[in-house]
Amino acid sequence: MTSHETGDAAVQQTLRALDPEVWLLTSAADHERGGLICTSVMNASIVPDMPRIVVGLARQHRTWQLVDASGRFVLHLLRADQIELVRRFGMQSQRDVDKFAELEVGRSPEGCPVLRDVAGWLECRVESGLDAGDRTHFLAEVTNGSPPAADIALLRMQGLLTTAPDEMRAELKRQLERDGAIDRQAISAWRAAHRTG
Ligand SMILES: Cc1cc2nc3c(=O)[nH]c(=O)nc-3n(C[C@H](O)[C@H](O)[C@H](O)COP(=O)(O)O)c2cc1C
Repeated sequence: MTSHETGDAAVQQTLRALDPEVWLLTSAADHERGGLICTSVMNASIVPDMPRIVVGLARQHRTWQLVDASGRFVLHLLRADQIELVRRFGMQSQRDVDKFAELEVGRSPEGCPVLRDVAGWLECRVESGLDAGDRTHFLAEVTNGSPPAADIALLRMQGLLTTAPDEMRAELKRQLERDGAIDRQAISAWRAAHRTG
């Protein structure tokens, strides 16, 4: 069945049924650190000693530049109660504010910022990048990690949307529409450049 047969609303409803983890990604390059919130994260290997992750980062974000320049990033898993970190890292840009101010921050073995108060983390080294117009899908080797405790409830998208205060949900929606307009143009340009036949 295609989207034409079921309609745009059905596609959106199907995509909303997914409930991805909400990750906090950090990176650093040339003595500058940065980070953002991302849900576009996928385990990309079944080989235990060759772990890989794919992360989709939009080119307009400051953090994209840091990952592109350094080829390194750390992905943090958040606890279900850490929605204030979503406000801090996912709803403003490092271009305007120091997102790390007053947080306890260490360093990963390869030099990325690691937040101390999180559920767990993975350090990654970029192996390749697929330019999709709006985003780069970075394929990365996972080089280090700190696992979450077995009984910890992780922050996921549906939990974020149900626990966020009304004012935060409204701002999330506004920013999604703003970024979506930028991404729409970038995807259209990419499709025009890559169209075959
Ligand atoms: C719940 C949520 C999920 C997000 N997922 C992604 C994502 O998968 N990829 C991405 O590039 N941006 C994503 N963002 C947007 C960035 O986190 C956000 O624009 C951030 O403020 C960029 O900051 P920077 O300019 O300092 O890099 C998401 C934001 C939120 C709130």
